[in-house]
Amino acid sequence: MTTTVITNIGNLVTNDPERGTGPLGQIQDAAVVLDGETVAWVGPTANAPAADEAYDAQGRAAIPGFVDSHSHLIFAGDRTQEFNARMEGRSYEAGGIRTTVKATRAATDEELEANLVRYLAEARRQGTTTFETKSGYGLTTHDEARALRIASRHTDEVTYLGAHIVSPDFADDPAAYVDLVTGEMLDACAPYARWIDVFCEKGAFDGDQARAILTAGRAKGLMARVHANQLTYGPGVQLAVELDAASADHCTHLTDEDVAALAGGNTVATLLPGAEFSTRAQWPDARRLLDAGATVALSTDCNPGSSFTSSMPFCIALAVRDMRMTPDEALWSATAGGAQALRRTDVGRLTPGARADLALLDAPSHVHLAYRPGVPLVRTVWQRGQQVPA
Ligand code: NIG
Ligand code: FE
Repeated sequence: MTTTVITNIGNLVTNDPERGTGPLGQIQDAAVVLDGETVAWVGPTANAPAADEAYDAQGRAAIPGFVDSHSHLIFAGDRTQEFNARMEGRSYEAGGIRTTVKATRAATDEELEANLVRYLAEARRQGTTTFETKSGYGLTTHDEARALRIASRHTDEVTYLGAHIVSPDFADDPAAYVDLVTGEMLDACAPYARWIDVFCEKGAFDGDQARAILTAGRAKGLMARVHANQLTYGPGVQLAVELDAASADHCTHLTDEDVAALAGGNTVATLLPGAEFSTRAQWPDARRLLDAGATVALSTDCNPGSSFTSSMPFCIALAVRDMRMTPDEALWSATAGGAQALRRTDVGRLTPGARADLALLDAPSHVHLAYRPGVPLVRTVWQRGQQVPA
């Protein structure tokens, strides 16, 4: 196994408070040793052990690779027209999903996979090294299972979202669609997935339907995550906490009871500011959640309808500017927070034994990700110890 030592890192975020200063465990003039796919050592450059190969970071900052715990990348087609209409004043509705369902069903496996690979590469160049992605634009047993089969070739974090909206084929009989999602479709999809998700929202699935879907998934060995409280107040967040879901995603409209439930449970509040940006909706209030003691993650929600960005740095900038997070909090949420939302301990931190996933920034510290929004600061990325081609 080849070892590599990266020296002269101006500021290293380890996300381990015991290894450095502050909650991010920062080390100045640091070095990291990669041994194959894992981190073998971190500490000051002056104490760095020798390795087979050396890389000089020339004072750049280093951070753990981003953990994007929420995306919808198995799709075809484009919704530029819908975006244009929204920017002219039309509001976002869950029904737009149907446009993508039509295009996705019509696409070949090769087209869907090529699209996925393209967006994963795009995200990787911007520092994302762990990706979750979902089905949800097929809504037939065949189309959901093929989406997950394709996704599972590219990531371990695959989520079955047959319950994205009621399939247009079942418009007159939503109960029969829930039976399909919890029956034959679940059986076909479960082998490819780690997670089950449901869009619990007006126009999608109500609390009782969501509970039935998540419970059926858990009986098949899938763990729960929930699209909750995005467009309106609703039962999604409380249900997520009650079922010990790893994450409640969106969390835009929260009552005090919702905030208290998140603060008191193990469910991470995953905030997706790209969606509020692209739908011109109110921002989720990260400060309110953090002050109450909830754990917050940040993700892109990359999808062709409500949030067509693969950029975690962009989401960090929005979170700092508009959701009242500090730059340190936003960086933690985009790395360690995402890992917690996926119940992972091997990513989102740079400590011995963690996966060798990191990004070097053309900046003296991670604060520049918010301070210099829109600037491509991610310079070099290592994923599982391999340098990602620029
Ligand atoms: O997370 N909320 C539901 N699903 C997506 C939107 C999907 C779409 O509009 O195509 C979301 O925002
Ligand atoms: Fe989503």
